Amino acid sequence: MEQIPKILSWRNMLVLSLALNFSLVLRILNGDGEERDSWDRTASVSIWPTTASGSSSLSSASCNYSKIEEDDDRIINLQLGDPTVYERYWQEMGDVTTMVIPGWQSLSYLSDKNNLCWFLEPELGKEIIRVHKVVGNAVTQDRFIVVGTGSTQLYQAALYALSPHDDSGPINVVSAAPYYSSYPLITDCLKSGLYRWGGDAMAYKEEIPYIELVTSPNNPDGFLRQPVVNRSKGVLIHDLAYYWPQYTPIISAADHDVMLFTVSKSTGHAGMRIGWALVKDRETAEKMTDYIELNTIGVSKDSQLRAAKVLKVVSDSCGNETAKSFFDHSYDVMSERWKLLKQAVKSSKRFTVPDFASQRCNFFGKVFEAQPAFAWFKCEEGILDCERFLREEKKILTKSGKHFGDEQSYVRISMLDRDTNFNIFIHRISSSFNSTI
Ligand SMILES: Cc1ncc(COP(=O)(O)O)c(C=O)c1O
Repeated sequence: MEQIPKILSWRNMLVLSLALNFSLVLRILNGDGEERDSWDRTASVSIWPTTASGSSSLSSASCNYSKIEEDDDRIINLQLGDPTVYERYWQEMGDVTTMVIPGWQSLSYLSDKNNLCWFLEPELGKEIIRVHKVVGNAVTQDRFIVVGTGSTQLYQAALYALSPHDDSGPINVVSAAPYYSSYPLITDCLKSGLYRWGGDAMAYKEEIPYIELVTSPNNPDGFLRQPVVNRSKGVLIHDLAYYWPQYTPIISAADHDVMLFTVSKSTGHAGMRIGWALVKDRETAEKMTDYIELNTIGVSKDSQLRAAKVLKVVSDSCGNETAKSFFDHSYDVMSERWKLLKQAVKSSKRFTVPDFASQRCNFFGKVFEAQPAFAWFKCEEGILDCERFLREEKKILTKSGKHFGDEQSYVRISMLDRDTNFNIFIHRISSSFNSTI
């Protein structure tokens, strides 16, 4: 019951009303004791944003706060960066991204045999270039596009392409702490003879070749980043999964040798598993393509076509004067969430989050502070193990700083969950909520 979203179009209301009636009948028939118990111990929290009329918030920047019931027993899992916050926008958009793929389509392995990346669907290539032009966040001219099953596959393809294939032994792969916790795991999972995890780039002192990962904005802390090792024998991979205007001001078009992007964090379609690399050097792009051929013989055509459609709708929405664009909507959501988080942290006095400098965003034409996909959250007042504290005292699951090469007084908290979970999270950290009560 607590999951009922407040932000529904009239069409959704009709479907929801039918579903609710059906589920109520089922509940009466089955008896739902567990839920009744938890409803006995409730507290009010706000849910947002919805218009005064209770209709969709997408066309309105205003946020009214209505009440929902907090369930003290419920465990709120904010460990992963699952981008379900965007569900609401795509539900509201209705059928514009709906696709019908006939059975005779997607039979061939090949998409475009004249392209270096022969499994890239031309339509997706076109929409990738278009969305970067619209947003102004990356240079696409004279770049090769390599599509991957998520940017996770492209990361591995880039390691394969950039590692020496002679007998010099595995090259060190480093990134400045706090770094994305999956990097060490992915890098070392097969114990490759080509590359190995080398740890915190700030501590890297060796004069031998290395690969440095620059994640900007960074996961987990949200800061824009530059390379830190800066030695002659290094090569760089820029992971720009979060370089989109809902998270950070777009200060210039990124122009690096290997840049990784993904629909997971840009449009929220993590389940499509589509990422892309913009690569300057032909040989590197060829090797990355070879890796993906060896690994999965290409990338799902169905997913590529869906991703192309979604990116097209995003780009189209940016030039549409009458409806709220995807980035206007997602910017507003992130801005509101960060406002609530900062208020909650301030009122609690037990926690802190990073401060970000204001910068001018070329896309929005205004100045704002970063509002990242994750909160890099610190427990103060002598709480040394923040993950444990939040789990045991607040029933909130987070990811400990130790996974990111940092201290346990930090945790990473997803800011991309659905409204209900986010609001309960805010309520629990700002109030004296204590699970042991
Ligand atoms: C920095 C960074 N890169 C890459 C990924 C993975 O993206 P994908 O879903 O495209 O594999 C994530 C996911 O959380 C991420 O945070």
